[in-house]
Amino acid sequence: MTDDKHVLEVMRRHRSVRAFTPEPVPDEVIERAVEAAQCAATSSWIQGYHLLQVTERPHLQRLAELAGGQPQVETAGAFFVVAGDTRRHRLVAERAGSSYENSTELFLLATVDASLFAQNLTLAFEALGYGICYVGGLRNDLPAVDDLLSLPSGVFPLFGLCVGVPANDPGTRPRMAARAVWSKGRYPADGEVLEQVEAFDAVAARYYTARGAAGRNWSGGVWRKFARALRPGLRRFYESKGASFD
Ligand SMILES: Cc1cc2nc3c(=O)[nH]c(=O)nc-3n(C[C@H](O)[C@H](O)[C@H](O)COP(=O)(O)O)c2cc1C
Repeated sequence: MTDDKHVLEVMRRHRSVRAFTPEPVPDEVIERAVEAAQCAATSSWIQGYHLLQVTERPHLQRLAELAGGQPQVETAGAFFVVAGDTRRHRLVAERAGSSYENSTELFLLATVDASLFAQNLTLAFEALGYGICYVGGLRNDLPAVDDLLSLPSGVFPLFGLCVGVPANDPGTRPRMAARAVWSKGRYPADGEVLEQVEAFDAVAARYYTARGAAGRNWSGGVWRKFARALRPGLRRFYESKGASFD
């Protein structure tokens, strides 16, 4: 019971950290975190993910630029690219002289597996006292990321992950009420959904005001974000890396 409580505390303490001290993250720590993260459930035990640590300074600089100018990519104690990995499944099939029947499902299996692994990994690092920041900005220009890292076919880069010793404490960001994301028996009616949104807008407005950004709320950020197509071309990129969306 004590351990369970500790896990919940670590989860509730989460905040994305974007400023790190120069301390590197030792390999022993990374290995410990990865081993724990690998205990995440994985669809049919396929373990469809890969974690590529980027170590070369010029590569880190370039990735920070490609992510849209995110200096934490370069300044974190360790930076990783999280990828859905179907390559080893393909190699196993080829070695067995079997076919590999590609489909959207296989892309999803790897994406879901990689995400579960990544979130377990972040919790492990956070439990060990490190800070983390996911970097979806890597998907701004995946062909360039892919060229830089020479990823083989069947490996699908999804997002980056910064890990390091926090240089400051940005504090936690509030979330919607549990009842907004959890319902019993049926999905809530649109009016109920919007009521929850309004309630959360008030919470988010207070959060922003306290940080000197009065006038902002949550739903405004959402509709503005989705008013234009985000990162077009992803399907073409992933197909070029061997994904099928049939
Ligand atoms: C898949 C994913 C990609 C993200 N990409 C970025 C990113 O590129 N840059 C960044 O600063 N934060 C990124 N974040 C962090 C989110 O902005 C952050 O989790 C969210 O605003 C909630 O804040 P919190 O993590 O501090 O609770 C990403 C988070 C996720 C889950």
